[in-house]
Amino acid sequence: MELFTRAEGVAVPVLSRTSAPLQLRAGGTSLVVDVRGDGLPRIVHWGADLGVMSGEALVALADAQVPQRVSGGLDAPVPVAVLPEHAAGWLGTPGLAGHRAGSDFAPRLRMLELEQAEERLVAHAADERAGLRATLEIEVTSSGLVRLRATVHNTGGTAFDVEAVLPTLPVPDTATELLDTTGRHLRERSPQRLPFVVGTHLRESRRGRPGADATLLLVAGEEGFGARSGRVWGVHVAWSGNHRVLAERAISGESLLGGGELLLPGEVRLEPGESYESPWLYGSHGDGLDELASRFHDHLRARPHHPRTPRPVTLNTWEAVYFNHDLDRLTELAGLAAGLGVERFVLDDGWFGSRRDDSRGLGDWYVSPEVWPEGLHPLADHVTALGMQFGLWVEPEMVNPDSDLARAHPDWILGPPDRVPPSSRRQQVLDLAHPDAFDHILSRLDALLVEYPIAYLKWDHNRDLVDAGHGPLGTAGVHGQTLAVYRLLDIVRGRHPGLEIESCAAGGARVDLAILERTDRVWASDCIDPIEREQIQRWTELLLPPELIGEHVGAPVSHSTGRQHTLDFRAASAFFGHLGVEWDVSRATDEERARLAEWIAAHKALRGLLHTGRRVHADHPDPALRVHGVVAVDQGEAVYAVVQLTTTLTYPSGWLRLPGLDPDGVYDVRPLPPGNRIEGTGQSPLPWWTDGVRMSGYALSEVGVRAPVLYPERSVLVRATRIDAPQPAHISPGGIA
Ligand code: GLA
Repeated sequence: MELFTRAEGVAVPVLSRTSAPLQLRAGGTSLVVDVRGDGLPRIVHWGADLGVMSGEALVALADAQVPQRVSGGLDAPVPVAVLPEHAAGWLGTPGLAGHRAGSDFAPRLRMLELEQAEERLVAHAADERAGLRATLEIEVTSSGLVRLRATVHNTGGTAFDVEAVLPTLPVPDTATELLDTTGRHLRERSPQRLPFVVGTHLRESRRGRPGADATLLLVAGEEGFGARSGRVWGVHVAWSGNHRVLAERAISGESLLGGGELLLPGEVRLEPGESYESPWLYGSHGDGLDELASRFHDHLRARPHHPRTPRPVTLNTWEAVYFNHDLDRLTELAGLAAGLGVERFVLDDGWFGSRRDDSRGLGDWYVSPEVWPEGLHPLADHVTALGMQFGLWVEPEMVNPDSDLARAHPDWILGPPDRVPPSSRRQQVLDLAHPDAFDHILSRLDALLVEYPIAYLKWDHNRDLVDAGHGPLGTAGVHGQTLAVYRLLDIVRGRHPGLEIESCAAGGARVDLAILERTDRVWASDCIDPIEREQIQRWTELLLPPELIGEHVGAPVSHSTGRQHTLDFRAASAFFGHLGVEWDVSRATDEERARLAEWIAAHKALRGLLHTGRRVHADHPDPALRVHGVVAVDQGEAVYAVVQLTTTLTYPSGWLRLPGLDPDGVYDVRPLPPGNRIEGTGQSPLPWWTDGVRMSGYALSEVGVRAPVLYPERSVLVRATRIDAPQPAHISPGGIA
């Protein structure tokens, strides 16, 4: 029986009972959802597109997944729902956990109603006895991502404590390896691989922010999967507070990836009539990690607020002057920056209150009259007169105890009523769920944005939330804080259209798709050593396209590692992202500045391609050499970086296989200035390096060209330009040219 209702003004079919599973299909993804019966929806297939399927074919597919009854098990097969239910017989991690003063510990939700509108399914279910209703939203986006979330409503007469809402996606048993990342300050996104064995691999953040150690994606894949091969499935929790992500393999054979918010004890207590909405759990899949990542990149690029203007080359003052703010020095720096081709000048920490180092003044968002007697106007005016945008650093969620704000409002510090949480970077967190604290911070940000021509805020968040009690009872406050921060960002953006915001959290400790709904780039790390950045950026790009990642050219000697690098290596490592400079260029030589200007000009000439194309990585057998690039969506051109991390085992180095080109296309491949400089190692020139080479896209990806011999910690750029007329898509790929 099919009924119709109106949801948000659009007629959507309400399926009161369906006789066949449903298929959502988009962007190369099929999701087959079994909604027969009155149980919660079960995902029968997630991954490769199975084509348009008839009702009969969907029934056959779903029925063929029903397991046998085995000894020692339950008498009927256990359906594993999108929110797996203990009461239905699922003995792994439950999808919905909570209780009503100890009772109703294992809800069993029955489906009431289903709505389908295009590639979106909404299931309404209830456990009337437990006094709970749930709304499950399941979508396949145009880029082929799957996203799921659940809203739990308390329809009972007393409070219900929600402990966990963890939607899941199934992966096949061929996924035998897991990949995620860990990390720390100055070294975010270190990959780790492990076998996907029976049990639970659980990654949690209790930091009140995702954390430098957070994995952006938890990936399960076929053995040995790489960037270009091996089927992979991965999930991401779009949430900026505490979260959980897990991979679970049951002895019954089911393998699940899931995730949601990590709720602290008592943090979400639903009074009668209240609801809790889980964050979106996003899932992507692909043949290799590049395809998996490209679904996220396409999704982010399709956002209405995705930056559409060329990403302005930035100079950030932090590693140039730190807290030593001085108008003359900064004016000189701005002049030099403009001469280099910089388009945005960002004044970092140290401009406000008593903030002359990191021990004081945080929270006092008034320009320091001591350092800036005429306010920021002389600098901001100078910057804008030079044709650059002016940007400013803020850390609105934080406070130094040694500040006027903390002295006036000690009760605005997030923490239990009778103690102060352990200090970190000599600061505490401001309780933004406190309405007065929220209003005060909003009004200060507003005042600054009204007074100065600020085009960009670097919005920092330098410490974990510890012992984050809220209000007179000291109830767990991370959830409320996270929502308050979203609200603050939303209001600020709403009042100041065009303002861009960077999500920084002592580097990359707050990178997630929910903060990216409200910000325009992330600061990937406080470490800008290009060797470290190779890994940090590579794994950040599993989720984000390069234009959303701040990548800066630092000083010759890295401030966080002490390693020394050539300007070419530093510049090439930042070339693909949202390029910036974080170096006191007044100390650079004329020659260095001229070279940096060349790099900036080359980036500007190519950023249209770099920031819209497909990100690709070759699976090079020797970890000493990395080859990655960006290929235009029409495959008309591509830029690759060849990065020599250490010496290679073979000598000369092996081959460069250039992925992502049209196999049928013919390309001219040659070094790309200024990334064409090879420092002499006493070798004869590489034959193709001088005059370029013309080969098919297929030959370039399968056979490749010989790699140049480079010193360690050097890189070069290569450009591929299509020189034949593109063939219509229906012509099948040819052989090797
Ligand atoms: C954090 C940021 C840095 C810089 C400092 C300023 O560490 O990640 O880039 O802004 O704060 O205090």
